[in-house]
Order: sequence, then C-alpha cells, then structure tokens
Amino acid sequence: MGVVRNLRQVSADDAGVDIAFRADVHAGLSQRQKAIPARWFYDATGSALFEDITALPEYYPTRSETDLLTRHAADIAAAIGPGRAVVELGSGSSTKTPLLLDAIDPAAYVPVDISGDFLRDSAEALAERFPGLAIYPVEADFTQRVDLPREICPLPKLGFFPGSTIGNMVARTAIDLLRNWRSALGDGSLMLIGVDRIKDIGILELAYDDPAGVTAAFNINLLERINRELGGDMAVENFSHRAVWDDIHARIEMHLVAACDMDFTIDGRAYRMAKGETIHSENSHKYGVRDANLLLRAGGWTPLATWDDVDPAFALILAEATEFRSAP
Ligand code: AVI
Repeated sequence: MGVVRNLRQVSADDAGVDIAFRADVHAGLSQRQKAIPARWFYDATGSALFEDITALPEYYPTRSETDLLTRHAADIAAAIGPGRAVVELGSGSSTKTPLLLDAIDPAAYVPVDISGDFLRDSAEALAERFPGLAIYPVEADFTQRVDLPREICPLPKLGFFPGSTIGNMVARTAIDLLRNWRSALGDGSLMLIGVDRIKDIGILELAYDDPAGVTAAFNINLLERINRELGGDMAVENFSHRAVWDDIHARIEMHLVAACDMDFTIDGRAYRMAKGETIHSENSHKYGVRDANLLLRAGGWTPLATWDDVDPAFALILAEATEFRSAP
C-alpha cells in the first residue's frame, strides 16, 4: 500500500509563515511573564536538535520508552490486538513506531505532525519497511482539531502518544487534548501513551541541561526561528538557557534568560526585556502513578495496563475510551 495520500491542515500566510506561530509569539511576548508555546521549537533545525537530544546520555526518556516497547512487545500486542488504525500524535521522526507496528499487526498508520518535511521523510521510510501497510500522513497540529482520513473511519483505532509529550502541556490543556482525541478516535478506542515519572531532581535537571549544550541550542533555536521567520532582530547571543525543577507544578521549566537590558523588534513591533528577565519556553511535567491515571480519567480514558521502567522511571500506559457513566 505505502503512503496513500498526504493531508495538509496548517494555515500559512503569504510569506509561508504559520499564522498561529506569529500570533503566539506576539501574544506571548506581551505578557508579564513572557512565554512562547513549546510546540514552536520544531522547525527543521529544532526537530533535528531534538533528535540529537534523544541520543544524549543524560536524556533517558527515549531510551526508557524504546526499552519498554521492546521488552513488553508481546504483552502490549496481546492487550491491543491486530487490525487497528494507529494514529500517532506528534510522530516526528517516528523512531519508536516500527517497534509498535511490528508487534501489533495494524490495518493502517496515520502519523500526525506539524513538521511537514519530517513527516513526509519518515512516512516514506516506514512505507519501505512496511510495504503492505496503508499510511496516511496528516500535516497538522495535533493539539488542534484534526480531520482524520476517511479511509480509517470503519477501523478500530489506537492513539499512540509516545515520548511523554503530554508532559509539555499544563494539566488543563492535557485534559482538553485527551478529551478531543477521545471524541476523534471514538468509543472503544485505545490510547498508548508515554509518561515520564517524578524522580531525583538532579537527574531531571541534567536531562534538560546537558553538559554538551544540545538542549541549550534547542532552546536558543526558538529565538533564531523568530528572527528568521518573523523578521526579528533579537540579539540571540545575549540569551542563555535555564532548566529548573518547579516542585509545586511537578515540572521542569525551560527559560531563555536575558543577560542584559535589551530592545528588539519582531515584525516591526517593539519589545523590551530587562537583564535577568526570561522567556518561558517549555514545561515538562512529570507524573506519579496515581497522578497519571487521574489525568487520563479526567480526559475520558480509563487506564487498562501500565508498563514501567524503574531506573530512571518512565511508563507506557494503555487506556481505553470507555463509555461515560454518570456516577455519584
Ligand atoms: C518532546 N518533549 C517530550 C521533550 C521533553 O522531554 O519535554 C522536549 C524536550 N525539551 C528539552 N529536552 C527535550
């Protein structure tokens, strides 16, 4: 079957810039605590830098999740069963996907990703590896409403949301996303989701501030992307990377810290930052066992099974879109 058809659901302006990117940057830099949503990290450079992060010795989530998928493939396959349409949210380079597809014998694969080039390349690579599988790439922001290809409509579905990307959302947004995908995938669907656990703060901070400076480059690339795509003139060299644990929110926060007072313009709009002021660029929430189960239930998904890695702790959770019951 191979790659059947690409669906594009991203709106760009005349200059080819994502309209939502422009809006988020201006809105975010106008707040008292400046903040830009983490999804804008992933242009071609940012996506490549993220791939480099996943290979760092300090960044354990990718290794832990790959290990879980490999070690528990038979159990995962037994719990999911064959013949499902696998819809992967934020597929990126789809490096873990073959492990799942190999194990469960699916009927179709729908990678959804905002980064079009990455999506097409990885869909082509998967088509070579799984020649009999129908692949329908969808270039879209999976945090928004996504129209799924009509061909998968009659198939039972499995949402695949690996990498602990759910952790990049605050609880309210994560629950909205889980609810939206519950209604998009339908009653009886399953969701296999990667969740990073709360652990030693030293391990967490090192995972997000590696000595080789790859995560710093990933963070700084957001400013370079703003300069490149939105005609900004930020002095990128005057910003530094900070990653710090916030215990109240149970998350690593990444910030871009101004080393001196500075003025800059973006799209001709003027901004000012004082020395020490930051742009909050990412949250990476970590979850205890019951926290994660509660999050899923609030999003309309009932946890069925969990596969846990203990050192460093990371989990794959399989949940089902059970019928809503109104109980006391
Ligand atoms: C994509 N996401 C789950 C990564 C994380 O761990 O929060 C992004 C990342 N940011 C810095 N390092 C990795």
